[in-house]
Amino acid sequence: MPKVLNGAAIAAAIKQEVAEEVKKLAAQGVRPGLAAVLVGHVPASEIYVKSKVQTCAELGLNSDLITPPDTVTTEEMLDLVHSLNDRDDIDGILVQLPLPKQVEAKVLLDAVDPSKDVDGFHPVNAGRLQAGRPALAPCTPAGIIEILKRSGLPIAGQHAVVVGRSDIVGKPAAMLLLHENATVTICHSKTRALGAVTREADILVAAIGRPGFITPEMVKPGATIIDVGINRIETREDFDRFFKGNEKREAAFAKRGSVIVGDVHPAAFEVSGAYTPVPGGVGLLTIAMLMSNTVRAAELAT
Ligand SMILES: NC(=O)c1ccc[n+]([C@@H]2O[C@H](COP(=O)([O-])OP(=O)(O)OC[C@H]3O[C@@H](n4cnc5c(N)ncnc54)[C@H](OP(=O)(O)O)[C@@H]3O)[C@@H](O)[C@H]2O)c1
Repeated sequence: MPKVLNGAAIAAAIKQEVAEEVKKLAAQGVRPGLAAVLVGHVPASEIYVKSKVQTCAELGLNSDLITPPDTVTTEEMLDLVHSLNDRDDIDGILVQLPLPKQVEAKVLLDAVDPSKDVDGFHPVNAGRLQAGRPALAPCTPAGIIEILKRSGLPIAGQHAVVVGRSDIVGKPAAMLLLHENATVTICHSKTRALGAVTREADILVAAIGRPGFITPEMVKPGATIIDVGINRIETREDFDRFFKGNEKREAAFAKRGSVIVGDVHPAAFEVSGAYTPVPGGVGLLTIAMLMSNTVRAAELAT
């Protein structure tokens, strides 16, 4: 039976450690602070940001939720970011994506002080990560490494295949795996014979954004699968493709009219040695790592 890598338990352990670190900093008169910028009313973003602010409170961090209207301009957002860069009580700045079309996201993310870039998206942090220097690493990829390490799964010498090369997941995940001495292959939409490459993986990271894309024949028996994907499926046809006969999911689908599936077909998990479920896997690590990055930024600033 494959081992289920429990994201909830690992995230809880990290948050516990962060809370202890926050207590130590409090004794020195330091309280880490996160500014969360949420533009307009994107329901998924509202849920994510609410959860981030709530976790700050649980762990003893300060948070400041700033909610510009969806008519905000790039210039107004730049003024806001500059003011947050200047604030001593703010150690981390989080600009929730996506932003409205008129706001130039890259210009804005580049304006965040790299030492407060707790999402790890700034080119300075991307460069530092690549160069193997201390950096604030993007939260989801950092969470992947924590899952592997804390589950006692070897990384050094393993062949890690990362499917996806986005700046926020695929590339940094590959870089972090490389720094842990994995032999890393990065795949993308132009990769030929993808299945033949993924079948070579001891650690297979799927960050594609396509529901159930990785099928059982693409997985080496016994491999570790890290499924980063979060895809909502809403039709009966899609549901049956992934979850036919799964009573728990059937009940959730009947209740909500949708369910979440990762980038890995559930049948592919059966071939693996260990896997992160969706939901309940990588996704839960992202907020824990954001908290960890904010405390780290505060420590570096003191
Ligand atoms: N768990 C979390 O907290 C968390 C955080 C972030 C993202 N996610 C989820 O992770 C997934 C990936 O996110 P992302 O932001 O990295 O997505 P993205 O920016 O859309 O990147 C997707 C990557 O997948 C590759 N790809 C697309 N179709 C492919 C195919 N047929 N064969 C091989 N590669 C293919 C793309 O290749 P090209 O570069 O060639 O186009 C691209 O590099 C999404 O489901 C997202 O919702 C989860």
